[in-house]
Amino acid sequence: MASVTSLTSAVHQRLANALSAALPESADADPLLRRSDRADFQANGILALAKKAKTNPRELAAQVVARVTTGDVIGDIEVSGPGFLNITVTDRAITENLAARAADADGRLGVPYAEHPGTTVIDYAQPNVAKEMHVGHLRSAVIGDSVVQLLEFTGENVVRRHHIGDWGTQFGMLIQYLDEHPHELDHKASEVTGEEAMSNLDRLYKAARRLFDSDEEFKTRARRRVVDLQAGEPHTLAMWQKFVDESKIYFFSVFEKLDMEIRDADIVGESGYNDMLAETCRLLEESGVAVRSEGALCVFFDDIKGPDGNPVPLIVQKSDGGYGYAATDLSAIRDRVFNLKANTLLYVVDARQSLHFKMVFETARRAGWLGEDVTAYQLAFGTVLGKDGKPFKTREGETVRLVDLLDEAIERASAVVREKAQDLSEAEIAERGAQVGIGAVKYADLSTSANRDYKFDLDQMVSLNGDTSVYLQYAYARIQSILRKAGGTRPAAHPELGLTEAERALGLHVDAFAETVAEAAKEYAPHKLAAYLYHLASLYTSFYDKCPVLKAETPQQTENRLFLCDVTARTLHQGMALLGIRTPERL
Ligand code: ARG
Repeated sequence: MASVTSLTSAVHQRLANALSAALPESADADPLLRRSDRADFQANGILALAKKAKTNPRELAAQVVARVTTGDVIGDIEVSGPGFLNITVTDRAITENLAARAADADGRLGVPYAEHPGTTVIDYAQPNVAKEMHVGHLRSAVIGDSVVQLLEFTGENVVRRHHIGDWGTQFGMLIQYLDEHPHELDHKASEVTGEEAMSNLDRLYKAARRLFDSDEEFKTRARRRVVDLQAGEPHTLAMWQKFVDESKIYFFSVFEKLDMEIRDADIVGESGYNDMLAETCRLLEESGVAVRSEGALCVFFDDIKGPDGNPVPLIVQKSDGGYGYAATDLSAIRDRVFNLKANTLLYVVDARQSLHFKMVFETARRAGWLGEDVTAYQLAFGTVLGKDGKPFKTREGETVRLVDLLDEAIERASAVVREKAQDLSEAEIAERGAQVGIGAVKYADLSTSANRDYKFDLDQMVSLNGDTSVYLQYAYARIQSILRKAGGTRPAAHPELGLTEAERALGLHVDAFAETVAEAAKEYAPHKLAAYLYHLASLYTSFYDKCPVLKAETPQQTENRLFLCDVTARTLHQGMALLGIRTPERL
């Protein structure tokens, strides 16, 4: 076990020990330790404890101080105000802590694994077959990917599920059209680029739609196709498969552009649950969880009513016998709980689908598929807005194509990289441009809390000043350049040296990485990690402004500062990786 006890928990432990010695009845009381501006930490828990024990808080605080072990981790502890404790840790403890992190052979910077990992099935990156991907799909993919990285880093067993929209009535129309115009998708998958695949699908979709709207007989044939598809008629299925395959070429090209690993085996779309739908409905009906209403199979909820005051049901099966989105999601729950043995079901889906998930989860609870031991949670995300604060649309009012946005981000980022580039070749500029551009898009998404809307503003996203990924990437690259100048060998720590304020602040923040990661993973909150990293880069910048590294007072001090640079860079690199963002060595 290479995990490192953080300074926060070391101080916490010493305080808790002193507290239970001073006040035995409060053996496991929380001293409420916080980082503070006045000292390194402040403990605010004494006040409430003293009140409970009916003693004077300042006296209790003084007794705790008298019993605290100092000298190793805690350098100084004093009572302040009505009974707070201000705690300063020793310079040595800071440097030794960072040295232990740097020495972690697992390369995890001493971050411990979660004590009780479980299995999480995460549903994210779920575009729809034969349709363009839009910014909503971007959010699900970007947030989901980061949450996967965070959870896996804490040791959670993560099963990824890309619940793509690959089933439903529109396929009747598409398949019928393709069947009547068989040469339209006649090519080997390997010969088609993502862009071509999408334009093929788009063309087919439009042509099929035109025919469907103008030709009654085609409409009838298309409807019959839906029935064939759901019944699994082999020829119809083969045609359907062509659409899925063509779409996947396109999806994979977008995910690749997003620098994101999506595995084919994890794509289990709506169609994957087709065999379970009838049984799901039967179980719901037999248990009385769902009832027939005007021919449809419905689940009702006391607290869910429409604007007219009438209850809004979850429709599991339509009156024509067709199964919809809800039946698929309920079947997926059964699969994820009973076959995949999930303890947690996580759905990274647009907030506009929150009512759907509320009803689906409640139905699954009533049916006994979601027991007390399983958590189901929608990590709901807000809408992407244009610069004008309205939902993001093209000037013509159409949804913006995701690929166009990504290409523009890469183009803007390449311009920024080119302008600053000193010793980069054209090929390097192109590569860094992509890493910076995609990083900018991801970071803008991940740095606000997921449930909030955010503005898609490329000017802001690729700005070098402010809370952007470019700022973080430059901080990282600058550190690498210093380390290269210093000779490129891994610098050693010198715990015997005293530290300046800027060094202490940086060191204490590096130490907080483990706690930040644990919190971000537990709360599915990548934005907390993003905020941490931005703060880290800012603290590094002020350290660098105030403390000469290569021209420090002694060779030991130079090496210790290089060591600080190195451990900061490794923390930045690891943190950015958990957000799915690259940190180029040179920029
Ligand atoms: N394909 C859906 C959409 O584009 C998202 C699927 C969400 N996941 C789910 N299990 N329903 O809106």
